[in-house]
Amino acid sequence: MSNARSDSPKGEKRMSKDAFFSTPIYFTDLAGAQALNAQLKKDIREWRRQDPQGTVRSNVAQAGAWHSATDMHTRAEFRALTLEIFEMVQGIYNDLGYDPDYEPVCDSMWANINPRHAYNRHHTHPHALWSGVYYVQTPDDCGLLYFTDPRPQTQVLTPYFDPRRRHPDTWNEVFYQPQEGRLIVFPGWLVHAVHPNLSTAEGDAGERISVSFNFYQIRRDSPVRNPHRKEVVVGDLEPQ
Ligand SMILES: [Fe+2]
Repeated sequence: MSNARSDSPKGEKRMSKDAFFSTPIYFTDLAGAQALNAQLKKDIREWRRQDPQGTVRSNVAQAGAWHSATDMHTRAEFRALTLEIFEMVQGIYNDLGYDPDYEPVCDSMWANINPRHAYNRHHTHPHALWSGVYYVQTPDDCGLLYFTDPRPQTQVLTPYFDPRRRHPDTWNEVFYQPQEGRLIVFPGWLVHAVHPNLSTAEGDAGERISVSFNFYQIRRDSPVRNPHRKEVVVGDLEPQ
């Protein structure tokens, strides 16, 4: 884990700098993603065939846009991806020093198929400590993932920067290029959006396909689960 303090910030006077209240965004590229994604594309499209209505959330309805039901983490055909996501989230809990008596619990996971012009408005994920996205299919120009500075006070007076020396600590917006096989996990309270899919690829190849999810904590020895949520811990996913 990196230290928030640096002892030689770029300045003429010798001083130290603390950088508290950070907004961590974690990402990893899954090994074996090509085979995993080939199977996911088949299974997600089959799911859409069986449930063409899906669900409407922050996705802006376009002809052909589809948001699945939110029980993806309970479905056996998606277990391989779900296990990868649990492993990533447990790693984050370890990195941040969360109480080991509590483990990651997922209450919602869903697939998105976004055709040309589909996008997601600015939103957060209520009741989630950590949320994220996994990219299954990302044609060129399929839309950037966009995060904004969660501290609105910083916009009251914005300084002029030398663009050659500007430090990422001072950015007030960040864009991630979607990449097949990449898993990105961010705080559920962090405002984000997805730009329109402007792919010019024909047919199915022009669709952006992604998987989203929400996590929080539950006591490892908890005998009860919230009856209003589809809570799943990693032990529920072990192959029988
Ligand atoms: Fe989101």
